Amino acid sequence: MPYSERPTLLLTGGSRGLGHAIGGKFGAEGWEIIAPPRLRLELSSPAAIQDYIETEIQRFGPIVNSFIHSAGINPSVAKLTVTELGVKSPGIDVALNEFDQVVQVNARSFLQLSIGLLRRKQEMDTLSGLRMLALSSLFGGDITRIGKMPFSASKAMLEKIVKQLAVEWGRHGVLVNAIEPGFFPTEMTQINLGEEKIRMIEAQTPLGRLGEPHELANAAYFLCSPQNTFITGVVLPVDGGFLAGGGLGVLEMAK
Ligand SMILES: NC(=O)c1ccc[n+]([C@@H]2O[C@H](COP(=O)([O-])OP(=O)(O)OC[C@H]3O[C@@H](n4cnc5c(N)ncnc54)[C@H](OP(=O)(O)O)[C@@H]3O)[C@@H](O)[C@H]2O)c1
Repeated sequence: MPYSERPTLLLTGGSRGLGHAIGGKFGAEGWEIIAPPRLRLELSSPAAIQDYIETEIQRFGPIVNSFIHSAGINPSVAKLTVTELGVKSPGIDVALNEFDQVVQVNARSFLQLSIGLLRRKQEMDTLSGLRMLALSSLFGGDITRIGKMPFSASKAMLEKIVKQLAVEWGRHGVLVNAIEPGFFPTEMTQINLGEEKIRMIEAQTPLGRLGEPHELANAAYFLCSPQNTFITGVVLPVDGGFLAGGGLGVLEMAK
């Protein structure tokens, strides 16, 4: 479907952090943003998501041009202990309830919303040109660190969902991609890393600094704009070169 005068973005996680920057970028480019607050779309609840699909997506789904899933949670597994070597060890009881919740919010909710949106757009014959994007993490790919079992596993699942959707919906003109953000100074990063580790990450990043949220938003915008016509099924690191440097800081972060 050709883009309308004012294209529309459906966005999760738009209240703060990277999602907020993404909404700002699309808004500045003249897009209409639909960014439901958590009160309207609680992603830890499949029933709440279904309600949102049956009411809101039923109504505005046909005019959505792009869907971005930025919402995510990143708890450190509670039961970490510090060994005499000064290294945190994960303990034996990974909290399985917490695991399910992280997978639900980070990965399953994206699949459920995507299915709802794709179904509605197919009904209305407005599928072609839809672009979808999910924010993963460097830990969704080849690297991870101690204490990140639910987070890393959920992001790996998210990346596979993205690729699967890209493969299955490409013939309908739908493009689906993921971004792996490196390290950005959002609330999530401050809580999970703290100042000392942030300095260490900066030192191990070829560009020598954390990313600015608008730099992530620019990449998200490109992938979801009409300028992107042939990139689908990819996972793009936006990390200032951190992965290219071998991700060595990840080992240090375990200490
Ligand atoms: N920042 C980084 O350096 C970094 C690095 C790697 C990956 N990422 C990924 O990038 C994405 C954005 O990260 P961020 O740093 O911007 O995170 P953030 O600042 O912590 O914001 C998280 C967003 O997700 C929403 N959210 C969380 N749980 C939710 C739930 N159950 N239902 C609905 N919404 C929920 C929050 O809404 P409320 O305001 O209502 O809580 C908020 O809008 C995440 O997927 C994250 O894993 C970020």
